[in-house]
Amino acid sequence: MTQPTVPFLPFVKPEIDEETIQGVAEVLRSGWITTGPQNQKFEAALSEFCGGRPVRTFNSGTATLEIGLRIAGVGAGDEVITTPASWVSTSNVIYEVGATPVFVDIDPATRNIDLDLLEKAITPRTKALIPVFLSGLPVDMDRLYEIARAHKLRVIEDAAQAFGSSWNGERIGKLGDIVSFSFHANKNLTSIEGGALVLNNEEEAILAQKYRLQGITRSGFDGMDCDLLGGKYNLTDVAARVGLGQLPHIERFTAQRRQLARAYFDGFAGGAAVKLGLGLPLADFDNSNWHMYLVTLPLDKLSIDRAGFMGELKERGIGSGVHYPAIHLFSLYKARGFREGMFPHAERYGASTVTLPLFTQMNEGDVTRVCRAVNEICEQYGK
Ligand SMILES: Cc1ncc(COP(=O)(O)O)c(C=O)c1O
Repeated sequence: MTQPTVPFLPFVKPEIDEETIQGVAEVLRSGWITTGPQNQKFEAALSEFCGGRPVRTFNSGTATLEIGLRIAGVGAGDEVITTPASWVSTSNVIYEVGATPVFVDIDPATRNIDLDLLEKAITPRTKALIPVFLSGLPVDMDRLYEIARAHKLRVIEDAAQAFGSSWNGERIGKLGDIVSFSFHANKNLTSIEGGALVLNNEEEAILAQKYRLQGITRSGFDGMDCDLLGGKYNLTDVAARVGLGQLPHIERFTAQRRQLARAYFDGFAGGAAVKLGLGLPLADFDNSNWHMYLVTLPLDKLSIDRAGFMGELKERGIGSGVHYPAIHLFSLYKARGFREGMFPHAERYGASTVTLPLFTQMNEGDVTRVCRAVNEICEQYGK
């Protein structure tokens, strides 16, 4: 008998509506496809979303972090404290601006930077902090800014994954120092590739514009100057139109993701995987936008490794991912003096984490299927 075929369930899939697709076609036909009117609209809409703060768009959430550091005046000789449990761009940009990353271990419950350890890591050379809101869960923002204020430190929030998240009822981006969002294809709000910086004032916004496009200033029809070394980080109008089409849906996206996350907790409750030691994320339904559902495998109790586990999921028609291996164990970082054992929680997390499917076009039946598969694999390979 042939097995019934179920459609493959990827771990992520963007939701782009027909109106946006039509809008992109109009931009393509309009004769202006790079940075222009759509970007202006996107920046204005993002600014409104962030309580009226100045916003500038960029072509990635890596560019936003790097330019955020430059605007904060971070450079050679400075230390920037961040977490090793992130996408590697979080700390690569610190090297890019000539500064030194100082890693601090994570709190295993939140998987975000441990703020007690962060405070202990501050030295006279510390200039800025880059907290990362992994899977959209913010750090304790009150405590973070208390520390930053007490030590006179700049904060560049790596909110790449946190568009639509909040802290005590206020949206991430509304409060705080410099805030960096990514609109990469997998993010809750996408512009295919892209990002945005939320800034404190017009001076910072002008600096952002200069860093974004070759340090150029213009006045009148032919007045042009270049007074700062900038790069090429502008967002196309095609991309901005995609982002604009996503924005009206963001609250629904977040609500649906929260509901799916709840279904995961229900689906795993009391099952074989949890009994064996599967690690679940913090059950936060107030602040997180549930960008991802990240579990940790009880590898010491399984007779397969993570790749084997992910292969078993694939066999059952389920996609998965890894977000993220600990940054300091990458070759570039080991060559710069980082070693295994320095940040044990981030290392354990990075070695055992698996990203399960979570996107708005999934339903609770899909979640049940994933939970059943995870339980089944744990039963089959549990020691
Ligand atoms: C935490 C974090 N920081 C920074 C980035 C970089 O964003 P981008 O891919 O848009 O450059 C990402 C993207 O995955 C991220 O997840």
